[in-house]
Amino acid sequence: MQSRDEKRAAKADVNRITGGRRLRRNRKSDWSRRMVREARLSADDLIWPIFVTEGSGTREPVDSMPGVERLSVDEAVRAAEEAVELGIPAIAVFPNTPPSLRDETGSEALNPKNLVCRACRAIKEAAPQVGIITDVALDPYTSHGHDGLMAGARILNDETVARLVEQALVQVDAGCDIIAPSDMMDGRVGAIREALENSGHDDIQVMAYTAKFASAFYGPFRDAISTNSTLIGDKRTYQMDPCNAAEALVEAELDIAEGADMIMVKPGMPYLDIIYRLKDTFGLPTFAYQVSGEFAMIEAAARNGWIDGERAMVESLLAFRRAGADGVLTYFAPRVARMLKDGAI
Ligand code: PBG
Repeated sequence: MQSRDEKRAAKADVNRITGGRRLRRNRKSDWSRRMVREARLSADDLIWPIFVTEGSGTREPVDSMPGVERLSVDEAVRAAEEAVELGIPAIAVFPNTPPSLRDETGSEALNPKNLVCRACRAIKEAAPQVGIITDVALDPYTSHGHDGLMAGARILNDETVARLVEQALVQVDAGCDIIAPSDMMDGRVGAIREALENSGHDDIQVMAYTAKFASAFYGPFRDAISTNSTLIGDKRTYQMDPCNAAEALVEAELDIAEGADMIMVKPGMPYLDIIYRLKDTFGLPTFAYQVSGEFAMIEAAARNGWIDGERAMVESLLAFRRAGADGVLTYFAPRVARMLKDGAI
Protein backbone atom coordinates (compact mmCIF):
# COMPACT_ATOMS: atom_id res chain seq x y z
CA MET A 1 0.00 0.00 0.00
CA GLN A 2 1.17 3.50 -0.82
CA SER A 3 1.08 6.10 1.90
CA ARG A 4 -0.94 9.27 1.33
CA ASP A 5 2.19 11.18 0.55
CA GLU A 6 3.35 8.60 -1.94
CA LYS A 7 -0.06 8.70 -3.67
CA ARG A 8 0.03 12.48 -3.85
CA ALA A 9 3.54 12.37 -5.29
CA ALA A 10 2.56 9.77 -7.90
CA LYS A 11 -0.43 11.87 -8.94
CA ALA A 12 1.71 14.98 -9.21
CA ASP A 13 4.18 13.07 -11.34
CA VAL A 14 1.54 11.89 -13.79
CA ASN A 15 -0.09 15.30 -13.91
CA ARG A 16 3.28 16.88 -14.62
CA ILE A 17 3.88 14.39 -17.44
CA THR A 18 0.42 14.72 -18.99
CA GLY A 19 -0.08 18.37 -18.25
CA GLY A 20 -3.18 17.29 -16.36
CA ARG A 21 -4.86 15.94 -19.47
CA ARG A 22 -6.21 12.51 -18.69
CA LEU A 23 -7.95 10.94 -21.65
CA ARG A 24 -9.23 8.05 -19.57
CA ARG A 25 -11.80 10.34 -17.92
CA ASN A 26 -13.98 10.22 -21.02
CA ARG A 27 -13.72 6.44 -21.16
CA LYS A 28 -14.89 5.83 -17.60
CA SER A 29 -18.34 4.51 -18.40
CA ASP A 30 -20.50 3.35 -21.24
CA TRP A 31 -22.60 6.53 -21.32
CA SER A 32 -19.51 8.68 -21.45
CA ARG A 33 -17.90 6.64 -24.21
CA ARG A 34 -21.12 6.95 -26.19
CA MET A 35 -21.04 10.72 -25.78
CA VAL A 36 -17.59 11.14 -27.28
CA ARG A 37 -17.79 8.52 -30.01
CA GLU A 38 -16.49 9.81 -33.34
CA ALA A 39 -17.43 7.07 -35.81
CA ARG A 40 -20.74 5.29 -35.72
CA LEU A 41 -22.40 2.56 -37.66
CA SER A 42 -25.89 2.70 -39.06
CA ALA A 43 -27.83 0.54 -41.48
CA ASP A 44 -27.48 3.41 -43.97
CA ASP A 45 -23.75 2.63 -44.18
CA LEU A 46 -24.29 -0.89 -45.43
CA ILE A 47 -24.43 -2.31 -48.93
CA TRP A 48 -25.28 -6.00 -49.14
CA PRO A 49 -23.60 -8.05 -51.90
CA ILE A 50 -25.61 -11.11 -52.90
CA PHE A 51 -24.93 -14.00 -55.28
CA VAL A 52 -27.62 -15.19 -57.65
CA THR A 53 -27.86 -18.60 -59.25
CA GLU A 54 -30.27 -20.58 -61.42
CA GLY A 55 -33.24 -22.42 -59.97
CA SER A 56 -36.10 -21.55 -57.70
CA GLY A 57 -36.31 -21.83 -53.96
CA THR A 58 -32.59 -22.49 -54.12
CA ARG A 59 -30.10 -21.45 -51.46
CA GLU A 60 -26.65 -22.99 -51.98
CA PRO A 61 -24.02 -22.51 -49.29
CA VAL A 62 -20.67 -21.11 -50.41
CA ASP A 63 -18.15 -23.30 -48.58
CA SER A 64 -15.43 -20.69 -48.26
CA MET A 65 -17.91 -18.06 -47.04
CA PRO A 66 -19.71 -19.64 -44.09
CA GLY A 67 -23.21 -18.23 -43.74
CA VAL A 68 -23.32 -16.87 -47.30
CA GLU A 69 -25.49 -18.56 -49.91
CA ARG A 70 -26.08 -18.34 -53.63
CA LEU A 71 -29.72 -17.47 -54.12
CA SER A 72 -32.10 -18.21 -56.94
CA VAL A 73 -33.90 -15.13 -58.23
CA ASP A 74 -36.99 -15.69 -56.04
CA GLU A 75 -34.76 -16.00 -52.97
CA ALA A 76 -32.84 -12.89 -54.04
CA VAL A 77 -36.18 -11.08 -53.96
CA ARG A 78 -36.61 -12.21 -50.37
CA ALA A 79 -33.17 -10.88 -49.56
CA ALA A 80 -34.13 -7.53 -51.08
CA GLU A 81 -37.27 -7.48 -48.97
CA GLU A 82 -35.16 -8.24 -45.93
CA ALA A 83 -32.88 -5.34 -46.89
CA VAL A 84 -35.93 -3.05 -46.90
CA GLU A 85 -37.04 -4.34 -43.51
CA LEU A 86 -33.56 -3.83 -42.07
CA GLY A 87 -33.07 -0.37 -43.56
CA ILE A 88 -30.17 -1.41 -45.79
CA PRO A 89 -30.23 1.12 -48.65
CA ALA A 90 -28.77 -0.97 -51.45
CA ILE A 91 -27.79 -4.43 -52.57
CA ALA A 92 -25.14 -5.46 -55.08
CA VAL A 93 -25.96 -8.39 -57.34
CA PHE A 94 -23.38 -10.91 -58.62
CA PRO A 95 -24.23 -13.87 -60.84
CA ASN A 96 -23.02 -17.45 -60.71
CA THR A 97 -23.44 -18.02 -64.44
CA PRO A 98 -23.99 -21.66 -65.47
CA PRO A 99 -20.72 -22.98 -67.01
CA SER A 100 -22.50 -23.85 -70.26
CA LEU A 101 -23.25 -20.15 -70.83
CA ARG A 102 -19.66 -18.98 -70.42
CA ASP A 103 -17.59 -18.34 -73.52
CA GLU A 104 -14.43 -16.58 -74.69
CA THR A 105 -16.10 -13.19 -75.07
CA GLY A 106 -18.54 -13.36 -72.18
CA SER A 107 -21.52 -12.97 -74.49
CA GLU A 108 -24.01 -13.89 -71.76
CA ALA A 109 -23.18 -10.51 -70.18
CA LEU A 110 -25.17 -8.89 -72.99
CA ASN A 111 -28.18 -11.17 -72.70
CA PRO A 112 -31.10 -9.06 -71.40
CA LYS A 113 -32.44 -12.20 -69.75
CA ASN A 114 -29.26 -13.22 -67.95
CA LEU A 115 -29.34 -13.94 -64.22
CA VAL A 116 -28.44 -10.43 -63.13
CA CYS A 117 -31.09 -8.87 -65.38
CA ARG A 118 -33.77 -11.27 -64.20
CA ALA A 119 -32.81 -10.54 -60.60
CA CYS A 120 -32.94 -6.77 -61.20
CA ARG A 121 -36.40 -6.95 -62.73
CA ALA A 122 -37.79 -9.16 -59.98
CA ILE A 123 -36.24 -7.12 -57.18
CA LYS A 124 -37.38 -3.79 -58.66
CA GLU A 125 -40.90 -5.08 -58.83
CA ALA A 126 -41.03 -6.55 -55.33
CA ALA A 127 -38.85 -4.10 -53.41
CA PRO A 128 -38.55 -0.80 -55.29
CA GLN A 129 -37.32 0.95 -52.12
CA VAL A 130 -33.95 -0.75 -52.29
CA GLY A 131 -31.20 0.47 -54.62
CA ILE A 132 -29.70 -2.10 -56.98
CA ILE A 133 -26.01 -2.02 -57.82
CA THR A 134 -24.73 -4.19 -60.65
CA ASP A 135 -21.15 -5.09 -61.40
CA VAL A 136 -19.86 -4.28 -64.86
CA ALA A 137 -17.07 -6.71 -65.80
CA LEU A 138 -16.99 -9.83 -67.91
CA ASP A 139 -15.50 -12.33 -65.45
CA PRO A 140 -18.73 -14.10 -64.40
CA TYR A 141 -19.40 -14.76 -68.08
CA THR A 142 -16.03 -15.66 -69.62
CA SER A 143 -14.68 -19.18 -69.94
CA HIS A 144 -11.22 -17.90 -68.89
CA GLY A 145 -12.46 -15.96 -65.85
CA HIS A 146 -10.94 -12.63 -66.86
CA ASP A 147 -12.79 -9.32 -66.70
CA GLY A 148 -12.02 -8.49 -70.32
CA LEU A 149 -11.65 -9.86 -73.81
CA MET A 150 -8.42 -11.72 -74.50
CA ALA A 151 -6.02 -11.90 -77.41
CA GLY A 152 -3.63 -14.70 -76.56
CA ALA A 153 -2.61 -13.98 -72.98
CA ARG A 154 -3.33 -10.25 -73.27
CA ILE A 155 -6.44 -8.55 -71.89
CA LEU A 156 -7.63 -6.07 -74.48
CA ASN A 157 -8.58 -2.67 -73.11
CA ASP A 158 -10.51 -0.74 -75.72
CA GLU A 159 -12.39 -3.71 -77.17
CA THR A 160 -13.41 -4.64 -73.63
CA VAL A 161 -14.63 -1.12 -72.88
CA ALA A 162 -16.99 -1.30 -75.85
CA ARG A 163 -18.48 -4.53 -74.44
CA LEU A 164 -18.74 -3.09 -70.94
CA VAL A 165 -20.74 -0.16 -72.27
CA GLU A 166 -23.21 -2.59 -73.81
CA GLN A 167 -23.31 -4.64 -70.62
CA ALA A 168 -24.07 -1.52 -68.58
CA LEU A 169 -26.95 -0.55 -70.87
CA VAL A 170 -28.43 -4.04 -70.66
CA GLN A 171 -28.32 -3.87 -66.86
CA VAL A 172 -29.88 -0.41 -66.79
CA ASP A 173 -32.71 -1.61 -69.00
CA ALA A 174 -33.31 -4.37 -66.47
CA GLY A 175 -33.77 -1.81 -63.70
CA CYS A 176 -30.46 -1.42 -61.91
CA ASP A 177 -29.86 1.97 -60.29
CA ILE A 178 -26.10 2.13 -59.89
CA ILE A 179 -23.57 0.83 -62.39
CA ALA A 180 -20.39 -0.36 -60.72
CA PRO A 181 -17.56 -1.03 -63.17
CA SER A 182 -15.16 -3.43 -61.45
CA ASP A 183 -13.03 -4.39 -64.42
CA MET A 184 -10.28 -1.75 -64.09
CA MET A 185 -10.04 -1.09 -67.85
CA ASP A 186 -8.82 2.41 -68.69
CA GLY A 187 -11.54 4.79 -69.83
CA ARG A 188 -14.53 2.64 -68.95
CA VAL A 189 -16.14 5.09 -66.55
CA GLY A 190 -16.20 7.85 -69.16
CA ALA A 191 -17.42 5.56 -71.91
CA ILE A 192 -20.24 4.23 -69.73
CA ARG A 193 -21.20 7.74 -68.54
CA GLU A 194 -21.39 8.96 -72.12
CA ALA A 195 -23.52 6.00 -73.19
CA LEU A 196 -25.87 6.54 -70.25
CA GLU A 197 -26.32 10.20 -71.16
CA ASN A 198 -26.86 9.40 -74.83
CA SER A 199 -29.51 6.82 -74.03
CA GLY A 200 -31.55 9.03 -71.74
CA HIS A 201 -30.31 7.40 -68.53
CA ASP A 202 -28.74 10.50 -67.07
CA ASP A 203 -29.94 9.72 -63.55
CA ILE A 204 -28.20 6.36 -63.36
CA GLN A 205 -25.26 6.65 -60.94
CA VAL A 206 -21.79 5.25 -61.51
CA MET A 207 -19.94 3.82 -58.53
CA ALA A 208 -16.44 3.22 -59.83
CA TYR A 209 -14.25 0.50 -58.47
CA THR A 210 -11.56 3.16 -58.49
CA ALA A 211 -8.77 1.54 -56.57
CA LYS A 212 -9.20 -2.16 -57.04
CA PHE A 213 -6.08 -4.08 -56.19
CA ALA A 214 -4.86 -7.40 -57.58
CA SER A 215 -5.57 -9.16 -54.32
CA ALA A 216 -5.43 -12.59 -52.77
CA PHE A 217 -8.50 -11.69 -50.76
CA TYR A 218 -10.93 -12.33 -53.64
CA GLY A 219 -10.52 -16.12 -53.45
CA PRO A 220 -13.84 -17.02 -51.79
CA PHE A 221 -15.77 -14.69 -54.15
CA ARG A 222 -14.29 -16.59 -57.06
CA ASP A 223 -15.61 -19.78 -55.45
CA ALA A 224 -19.04 -18.18 -55.14
CA ILE A 225 -19.22 -17.25 -58.82
CA SER A 226 -17.22 -20.33 -59.91
CA THR A 227 -14.30 -18.58 -61.56
CA ASN A 228 -11.53 -19.90 -59.30
CA SER A 229 -11.18 -23.15 -61.20
CA THR A 230 -11.28 -21.53 -64.63
CA LEU A 231 -9.21 -18.38 -64.13
CA ILE A 232 -6.12 -18.46 -66.30
CA GLY A 233 -3.19 -16.61 -64.73
CA ASP A 234 -3.93 -13.54 -62.61
CA LYS A 235 -5.36 -10.03 -62.99
CA ARG A 236 -2.18 -8.04 -62.41
CA THR A 237 -2.14 -6.40 -65.83
CA TYR A 238 -5.33 -4.50 -65.03
CA GLN A 239 -5.94 -4.48 -61.27
CA MET A 240 -3.67 -2.27 -59.16
CA ASP A 241 -0.38 -3.33 -57.64
CA PRO A 242 -0.78 -3.66 -53.84
CA CYS A 243 2.46 -1.68 -53.46
CA ASN A 244 0.92 1.55 -54.74
CA ALA A 245 -0.99 4.34 -53.03
CA ALA A 246 -0.19 7.49 -55.03
CA GLU A 247 -1.43 5.71 -58.13
CA ALA A 248 -4.84 5.35 -56.47
CA LEU A 249 -5.09 9.15 -56.38
CA VAL A 250 -4.52 9.26 -60.13
CA GLU A 251 -7.11 6.54 -60.69
CA ALA A 252 -9.57 8.59 -58.64
CA GLU A 253 -8.78 11.78 -60.50
CA LEU A 254 -9.49 10.04 -63.80
CA ASP A 255 -12.69 8.32 -62.63
CA ILE A 256 -14.03 11.58 -61.23
CA ALA A 257 -13.14 13.49 -64.40
CA GLU A 258 -14.86 10.75 -66.41
CA GLY A 259 -18.05 11.19 -64.41
CA ALA A 260 -18.01 8.80 -61.44
CA ASP A 261 -20.61 9.75 -58.83
CA MET A 262 -19.03 7.60 -56.14
CA ILE A 263 -15.70 5.89 -55.78
CA MET A 264 -14.70 2.65 -54.11
CA VAL A 265 -11.64 1.01 -52.64
CA LYS A 266 -11.25 -2.74 -52.69
CA PRO A 267 -10.27 -4.78 -50.70
CA GLY A 268 -11.10 -2.84 -47.55
CA MET A 269 -9.19 -3.47 -44.37
CA PRO A 270 -5.70 -3.92 -45.92
CA TYR A 271 -6.27 -0.62 -47.79
CA LEU A 272 -7.61 1.76 -45.13
CA ASP A 273 -4.84 4.21 -46.02
CA ILE A 274 -6.21 4.45 -49.55
CA ILE A 275 -9.75 5.08 -48.30
CA TYR A 276 -8.47 7.83 -46.06
CA ARG A 277 -6.47 9.48 -48.81
CA LEU A 278 -9.23 9.37 -51.41
CA LYS A 279 -11.89 10.74 -49.08
CA ASP A 280 -9.53 13.39 -47.77
CA THR A 281 -8.39 14.47 -51.23
CA PHE A 282 -11.58 14.36 -53.27
CA GLY A 283 -14.44 14.45 -50.79
CA LEU A 284 -16.64 12.37 -53.08
CA PRO A 285 -18.86 9.64 -51.60
CA THR A 286 -16.25 6.95 -50.98
CA PHE A 287 -17.01 3.31 -50.32
CA ALA A 288 -15.02 0.36 -49.08
CA TYR A 289 -15.54 -3.21 -50.20
CA GLN A 290 -14.90 -5.60 -47.34
CA VAL A 291 -14.23 -8.47 -49.70
CA SER A 292 -14.87 -12.18 -49.46
CA GLY A 293 -11.44 -13.06 -48.06
CA GLU A 294 -11.78 -10.52 -45.28
CA PHE A 295 -15.19 -11.93 -44.43
CA ALA A 296 -13.85 -15.50 -44.56
CA MET A 297 -10.93 -14.71 -42.25
CA ILE A 298 -13.16 -13.24 -39.58
CA GLU A 299 -15.71 -16.04 -39.89
CA ALA A 300 -13.09 -18.79 -39.87
CA ALA A 301 -11.38 -17.45 -36.77
CA ALA A 302 -14.72 -16.91 -35.07
CA ARG A 303 -15.95 -20.40 -35.90
CA ASN A 304 -12.76 -21.81 -34.43
CA GLY A 305 -13.37 -19.86 -31.26
CA TRP A 306 -10.20 -17.85 -31.80
CA ILE A 307 -11.84 -14.44 -31.87
CA ASP A 308 -15.18 -13.01 -30.85
CA GLY A 309 -16.75 -12.91 -34.32
CA GLU A 310 -19.45 -10.37 -33.56
CA ARG A 311 -17.08 -7.91 -32.01
CA ALA A 312 -14.52 -8.37 -34.78
CA MET A 313 -17.24 -7.81 -37.37
CA VAL A 314 -18.41 -4.56 -35.78
CA GLU A 315 -14.87 -3.36 -35.14
CA SER A 316 -13.85 -4.00 -38.75
CA LEU A 317 -16.83 -2.03 -40.04
CA LEU A 318 -16.21 0.86 -37.68
CA ALA A 319 -12.64 1.01 -38.97
CA PHE A 320 -13.97 1.84 -42.44
CA ARG A 321 -16.14 4.62 -41.08
CA ARG A 322 -13.24 6.00 -39.05
CA ALA A 323 -11.03 5.97 -42.14
CA GLY A 324 -13.59 8.11 -43.94
CA ALA A 325 -15.70 5.62 -45.87
CA ASP A 326 -19.29 6.71 -46.36
CA GLY A 327 -20.38 3.11 -46.57
CA VAL A 328 -19.21 -0.47 -46.87
CA LEU A 329 -20.07 -3.33 -49.18
CA THR A 330 -20.05 -6.22 -46.76
CA TYR A 331 -21.35 -9.76 -46.55
CA PHE A 332 -22.05 -8.98 -42.89
CA ALA A 333 -24.66 -6.39 -43.91
CA PRO A 334 -27.81 -8.30 -42.87
CA ARG A 335 -26.29 -9.47 -39.59
CA VAL A 336 -25.06 -6.05 -38.59
CA ALA A 337 -28.29 -4.39 -39.67
CA ARG A 338 -30.25 -6.88 -37.57
CA MET A 339 -28.05 -6.15 -34.55
CA LEU A 340 -28.47 -2.42 -35.08
CA LYS A 341 -32.21 -2.83 -35.32
CA ASP A 342 -32.30 -4.88 -32.13
CA GLY A 343 -30.22 -2.27 -30.36
CA ALA A 344 -27.44 -4.79 -29.83
CA ILE A 345 -24.78 -2.36 -31.12
C1 PBG B 1 -15.01 -9.15 -60.52
C2 PBG B 1 -15.16 -8.88 -59.09
C3 PBG B 1 -14.40 -9.46 -58.07
C4 PBG B 1 -14.95 -9.04 -56.87
C5 PBG B 1 -16.01 -8.17 -57.16
N1 PBG B 1 -16.12 -8.07 -58.55
C6 PBG B 1 -13.30 -10.45 -58.10
C7 PBG B 1 -12.17 -10.29 -59.00
O1 PBG B 1 -11.80 -9.19 -59.41
O2 PBG B 1 -11.61 -11.33 -59.34
C8 PBG B 1 -14.47 -9.48 -55.53
C9 PBG B 1 -15.38 -9.36 -54.38
C10 PBG B 1 -15.01 -10.17 -53.20
O3 PBG B 1 -13.95 -10.80 -53.11
O4 PBG B 1 -15.83 -10.18 -52.27
N2 PBG B 1 -14.88 -8.14 -61.40
